[in-house]
Amino acid sequence: MNDGRPPGSLLDQVDDMEVKSELYEEPTFQKVAKLENSNSLVTLEFSNHQVEGDVKVDSDGDLVVDRKNRLSVEIEFSGSTVIPLVGLQIWRGAFVLADYILSQQKRRLFEDKVVLELAAGVGFTGVIAGMVAREIVCTDIDKGGILELIQRNFSRNQHLMKASTSVLSLDFYQDDWSPQLKRKLKETDIIIAADVIYDNNLSEAFLKCLTKVLLVPPKKTFLLALEKRFVFTVEDLDVVAPCFDHFFKCLNSQWSSPPMSAWTVQELDIDFQQTFEYERSKHLVLYKITT
Ligand SMILES: C[S@@+](CC[C@H](N)C(=O)[O-])C[C@H]1O[C@@H](n2cnc3c(N)ncnc32)[C@H](O)[C@@H]1O
Repeated sequence: MNDGRPPGSLLDQVDDMEVKSELYEEPTFQKVAKLENSNSLVTLEFSNHQVEGDVKVDSDGDLVVDRKNRLSVEIEFSGSTVIPLVGLQIWRGAFVLADYILSQQKRRLFEDKVVLELAAGVGFTGVIAGMVAREIVCTDIDKGGILELIQRNFSRNQHLMKASTSVLSLDFYQDDWSPQLKRKLKETDIIIAADVIYDNNLSEAFLKCLTKVLLVPPKKTFLLALEKRFVFTVEDLDVVAPCFDHFFKCLNSQWSSPPMSAWTVQELDIDFQQTFEYERSKHLVLYKITT
């Protein structure tokens, strides 16, 4: 299977390999319901500590305080998948990003903003962004029913979200953006993405697409959450994160001239409130890029 990516991509060689998110080994994912379509449904209960009380939405779509202080998000996802369909699963980066979004409520970073997610996967982070932003646009490749899965997860959690929502196709390898996507990008303030760095060719396509996205006015903030994937290589005689290193090497070289050289790239501390239950592995990183 090839979706416009260049031949020789690592993904081409391992397309048939089944992979499974590390999250599924964690306690949160031990109690899941089986759905008729053979997907699973996890209920993620959480307290919203960032505001006084709990977040709920009133009839006008505004957030209101609930003394019970508990919310639950229901997320449909696939178990193991082949690599081209990893978007049907949920990954740790999505949890970090969700935590960060909720931790920013007092600073109102997302309030009244249009947020667009790249490679949104099952749409979990999109749901959380939809609780605090004015509009959330989730994008991913139109393959394996990923866009339909995001839409179903939006519908399941509509009662929690105050944002208007849309789900659009965006393939990093495709330059011909739909008129709807172009329109949305002109309105977008914040771009988010989680766990998109795991193949060098894909990373390069992602960087090219990201640069083009960030060049669309108005000025944008980009948040990228990743779990660094470490391996031991004989070449380095050390444990390294080759995909992560490759991505930042490309970024530093491609963004060395204006206007990108004026953008700020900042690694954020992962010391914000943990709202969801998952292992905050020390390999999780979060970057903020401002244009
Ligand atoms: C590891 S998953 C992460 C999904 C989600 N962000 C999360 O953290 O749970 C990688 C994501 O990249 C998306 N992806 C892969 N190839 C892509 C491409 N060519 N264009 C856009 N997205 C792509 C996948 O569909 C998937 O949603």
